[in-house]
Amino acid sequence: MAEFDVVIRGGTVVTAADTFRADVAISGGRIQSVAQNIKGGAKEIDAGGLLVMPGGIDSHVHLAQPSGDAVMADDFESGTRSAIAGGTTTVIPFALQPRGASLRGCVTDYHKLADGRCYTDYGFHLIISDPSPGVLGQELPALVADGYTSFKVFMTYDDLVLSDRQMLDVFDCARDCSALVMVHCEGYDAIRYMTERLERSGKTAPYYHAVSRPESVEREATHRAISHAELTDVPIMIVHVSGREPMEQILWAQRKGLKIYGETCPQYIALTAEDLKGLNMDETGGKYVCSPPPRDRASWDAIWEGFRAGVFQTFSSDHCPFRYDSAEGKLHPKSRTSFRWVPNGIPGVETRMQILFSKGVNEGRITLNEFVALTSTNHAKMYGLYPRKGSIAPGFDADIVLWDPQRTTTIRQELLHHGADYTPYEGLEVTGWPVMTLLRGNVMVQDGEIVGKPGQGAFLKRDLSPFAAPRHRSAG
Ligand code: URP
Ligand code: ZN
Ligand code: ZN
Repeated sequence: MAEFDVVIRGGTVVTAADTFRADVAISGGRIQSVAQNIKGGAKEIDAGGLLVMPGGIDSHVHLAQPSGDAVMADDFESGTRSAIAGGTTTVIPFALQPRGASLRGCVTDYHKLADGRCYTDYGFHLIISDPSPGVLGQELPALVADGYTSFKVFMTYDDLVLSDRQMLDVFDCARDCSALVMVHCEGYDAIRYMTERLERSGKTAPYYHAVSRPESVEREATHRAISHAELTDVPIMIVHVSGREPMEQILWAQRKGLKIYGETCPQYIALTAEDLKGLNMDETGGKYVCSPPPRDRASWDAIWEGFRAGVFQTFSSDHCPFRYDSAEGKLHPKSRTSFRWVPNGIPGVETRMQILFSKGVNEGRITLNEFVALTSTNHAKMYGLYPRKGSIAPGFDADIVLWDPQRTTTIRQELLHHGADYTPYEGLEVTGWPVMTLLRGNVMVQDGEIVGKPGQGAFLKRDLSPFAAPRHRSAG
């Protein structure tokens, strides 16, 4: 009888720390050995010429989340199918608390949508829109203890925005229960002011979405969030950073010794505000409406500078898909009247790794090991999944992507597996592509074909993040 369930033979193993030739032996869904010339796999996989990397972890994904009158294009089945096809084996979507609703109740609802339907493993961040005394005093600490160890707060959006005082109260609670807070940094009042001004002068096309929330609005909110985090002595993750100004705020805070972390996304190294240009609502600009909006090519350079300076720990997709040509999506009847109503968000969970590999590793801006850290290992470390996920070493879950570093592909909608009817990256040529993906030792995708089944993905109760520990230098 074979000693191991699976042996991946002859590949180049890449972790966040090292690159080396080795075989990988798997049994019981876990990596048992990483060594030369391993014998005896019931199933043998030839990885000659391929990189053997930890499966991607995407810690910023929206699935089946309500958004005004629009309907998200991905449920948990299609969203995780798309993720696994792109080499990502774990996603952390959000359980959103509508105002007035019980947090526990909404977590139960998201479990009903997800459990038994996923192709990847998954956890949940919480979105706190209503930090009532009951939520902060009882529900949130109890949910953190149950493995929902991170949550997101918003500084904009009518139905989600928190006041500064509410943010401070949430930060206090996060510190007390050692949860990690993700912050969406864009200033609500400034955006409202700009939106009303633009609408008054008839500037309602999708492009004006970008004009209504310029980088200064993101920079101001980023600085405000950092100041609140300093005051309450709580580490925070600034998500979806779009360019130089917010990047430099985080760098400033990090140099001051504050525990401020940064995340960026493919849209900020591959799209610009020019993509939003369209003469009217029937043009394609709405396809690119997301927040913060993509900026310009100089901002791409600033993001790469941020990578070099260590500003960013994670590279996530912020996958938030809506169909374009649909009355439930970007071309919703109301969204034709003003950019204000175009649902915010773009798909990207399936193309995240290829875009970073191509523009980062192939074009010499980051190393292979940094690629693994940014797409997998650091997500596990930041969000309480390490040392179970995020590396290739004995004891880790055998979540593995076999990656062809030479394969050049033009991203096309017809190649993808999401529920959206378009990709914002249509026509982008990338080099580097996942050719096989294993989830806990099970082959889920082979040569672009999904061979796994929905329901093979499991819920992950997450540990507290060591990165959420306060500095113990509170003001009061
Ligand atoms: O436009 C975006 N990013 N939509 C998703 C929600 C969010 O703010 O992350
Ligand atoms: Zn956000
Ligand atoms: Zn998001």
